[in-house]
Amino acid sequence: MSGELLKRVECKLEEIPGLGTFIVVPKGLEQVIPDTTAISGVDPRGEQTLYRGYTIEDLGMNANFYEAAYLISRGVLPCEDEYKEFKKRVDYWRGRVPEKVYDALKMLPKTHPMYYGAYGALLLGQLYAPEWSLDKDSLYEHQIRLIAQLPVIFAAAYNLAYYGTFVRPESGADHAWDLLRMITMREPSALEARAFESSLVLYMDHGFNASAFTVRVVASTLSDMYSAIAAGIAALKGPLHGGANEEAMKMFLDAWRKAVEKGVPLEEYIVEYIKEKLARKERIMGFGHRVYKIKDPRTDVAAYYIKQLKDGDMWLKVLKNAEKVMWESKRLPSNIDLYTAILYYQLGIDIPMYTPIFAMGRVVGWTSHYIEQVLDNRLIRPTEKYVGPVGLKYQPMEVRCRR
Ligand SMILES: CC(C)(COP(=O)(O)OP(=O)(O)OC[C@H]1O[C@@H](n2cnc3c(N)ncnc32)[C@H](O)[C@@H]1OP(=O)(O)O)[C@@H](O)C(=O)NCCC(=O)NCCS
Repeated sequence: MSGELLKRVECKLEEIPGLGTFIVVPKGLEQVIPDTTAISGVDPRGEQTLYRGYTIEDLGMNANFYEAAYLISRGVLPCEDEYKEFKKRVDYWRGRVPEKVYDALKMLPKTHPMYYGAYGALLLGQLYAPEWSLDKDSLYEHQIRLIAQLPVIFAAAYNLAYYGTFVRPESGADHAWDLLRMITMREPSALEARAFESSLVLYMDHGFNASAFTVRVVASTLSDMYSAIAAGIAALKGPLHGGANEEAMKMFLDAWRKAVEKGVPLEEYIVEYIKEKLARKERIMGFGHRVYKIKDPRTDVAAYYIKQLKDGDMWLKVLKNAEKVMWESKRLPSNIDLYTAILYYQLGIDIPMYTPIFAMGRVVGWTSHYIEQVLDNRLIRPTEKYVGPVGLKYQPMEVRCRR
């Protein structure tokens, strides 16, 4: 990627007499490197994204959930014994969400399911608090519980609130297959389960993205892993981060409805639809990225599965035409959320579950960032540049509010 596509951001040095030099970094921390990580890295040139040395496309196409989760959390791809043990423990904990959690989920109001995940993570933290410690083995143990149980909580809470019932995990079933079954409350085909699993792998980690960084900030205070994951879920929920996949699908459905009214195929109408949105200065969700300025490599893997699922060719044309108009008008590439929006729609998943599914994959990365941070910790606490008034003196209300 050529350098001129990067915005010019400036760091300034500021001398504070007696204290030394302070660095003033760009708003949004763009192009700021606050620490190192060996978990995953998005090349700043946007050329490749690595999970522990492997490209994300390679793993998205070839690795299953357990292999990718083991790689991200432990640092290497597992051999047979390690794989079996890891799988056994993820499957064990998936089936052992405490009954108290299910009881609590039954009382939750119908709201966005990202709230359920944050609530569930905190509840797990309370129930497992007696076993909590910062010892390395204990950290791995809690990590597996979160990887296994957070997705179940999302699926159960959503179906309870929206449909009044839920499906329990199936003992011995494959993690991704079982999650998709719990979410949709029907048995998925092997292709559907693999497409879903691949999206979980693609979502597992992504450098110092906003939610992983949030998790690291919380971890740096030595708060527990469950609390840090609840904070990560809160950060992911926003439409500028994980919430974009839901917004992208709402946009496609709105465009589709209007295309039908006009009697035009969606793949043609999407161009006019996006142009009109841009003319109104609206953001098009699923486009743009802080790091990828040319292409998000994850989209090719998702496209491979979209093609094989219901109406795949039509959806790929819609995506290509949307990408063409966005590139011509704004020089912005699509991102993974545009593609998973379509993929989850093809899998028959309700839109409010799209961002929770992102979290079901990302919990692997979050917990790994938590561990990496606490094992080599320093409190993350930047310094602000105060620009408010100075020298004011407190006055009682009757004096300060006198007109
Ligand atoms: C991801 C995102 C927050 C990155 O933002 P960023 O690096 O801070 O970039 P900025 O918000 O500063 O945007 C830079 C310019 O591109 C425009 N832009 C960025 N994303 C845009 C989008 N999706 N649609 C329309 N315009 C967009 C901004 O309006 C801005 O234009 P301006 O300079 O004329 O004001 C941003 O691209 C976005 O909001 N995308 C939509 C949400 C999304 O898909 N999120 C998932 C990311 S994986």
